[in-house]
Amino acid sequence: MKWRELIKERSSIRSYKDKKVDEKLLEQVRQYMKELSPLIPEQKTEILLLGKEAGPRLEGIVGYMGNAFFAPNYILLLGEDSEEGYIHAGYLAAQLELKLTELKLNTCFLSINEAKAVKTALNISSPLTVTTCISFGHGNPEKDSNRIDIKSRSDVRMEKIKGHIAPKIAMDELVSQSVFGQNCDFAEDAMDPNWEKAFYASSLAPAALNRQTYRFLIEDNMLYLLDREVKHITKEDRYLNDGIVMFYFHTVLTAHFHKPDSWTVGTVEKKPEWKVPEEYFVVGTYRLF
Ligand SMILES: Cc1cc2nc3c(=O)[nH]c(=O)nc-3n(C[C@H](O)[C@H](O)[C@H](O)COP(=O)(O)O)c2cc1C
Repeated sequence: MKWRELIKERSSIRSYKDKKVDEKLLEQVRQYMKELSPLIPEQKTEILLLGKEAGPRLEGIVGYMGNAFFAPNYILLLGEDSEEGYIHAGYLAAQLELKLTELKLNTCFLSINEAKAVKTALNISSPLTVTTCISFGHGNPEKDSNRIDIKSRSDVRMEKIKGHIAPKIAMDELVSQSVFGQNCDFAEDAMDPNWEKAFYASSLAPAALNRQTYRFLIEDNMLYLLDREVKHITKEDRYLNDGIVMFYFHTVLTAHFHKPDSWTVGTVEKKPEWKVPEEYFVVGTYRLF
């Protein structure tokens, strides 16, 4: 898949046409559900593809303010009710959302407000918990708009983008080198040009309430993903955000070469010399080379 292009193209769509998604497309989605790259292979996962009838049942128990958008289709992920379980779910859901984007379908993640109620509403008897949900279908068109990309003070670009655009975190804020808050000079010789592409793609990741609370810190050949707790975002949604951004980074970085390992999930001690604010903790580590 052309991950970078799909990442740029993707945006959350919250209004769908009352039009069935072609069965051939749904068959491609079902097939892709079996081909996802796992982040933590031992994590148990179930993925369900649901039709229009799920919409009214999900109303009130998923989505901001209980809005499930009465979409033609939903994908429901079930997994383990743990930090790793949700991060893993985010990593898988990111792939599914981009596959749907490739099929020219529109999507939106839906926060799970009441996981048990979702299982009851949909008659799901699995021992796993509902970790996330994606609505999808043919979206209603939105107006074109400009997206401003601020990579650095000397690199500000304006792009004409179709549809609704959520503001995104600037690269300078997202990525630090050696010390938290210290900008990363991607023009430096030691920097692999693919890193910048991977960070840029990460900056476009969807995030619950559009709060991209995660940060990257590069130290030599290691990359650390940091995150922090914030009001109004559940820890489950934060873990999902982390899993999504982990996938975005890894898939763009490795678009043109094979790398057997992806992120290692789990916290490690913060080094004092990183000067990371107290509220941040390490969520995962990644060997760059
Ligand atoms: C874990 C997660 C949960 C989300 N929950 C909802 C939701 O319940 N309702 C909704 O309308 N959007 C939801 N979103 C979509 C975000 O609001 C959206 O990604 C963000 O505003 C950025 O916009 P974009 O996806 O168009 O880039 C969620 C996204 C993520 C990653």
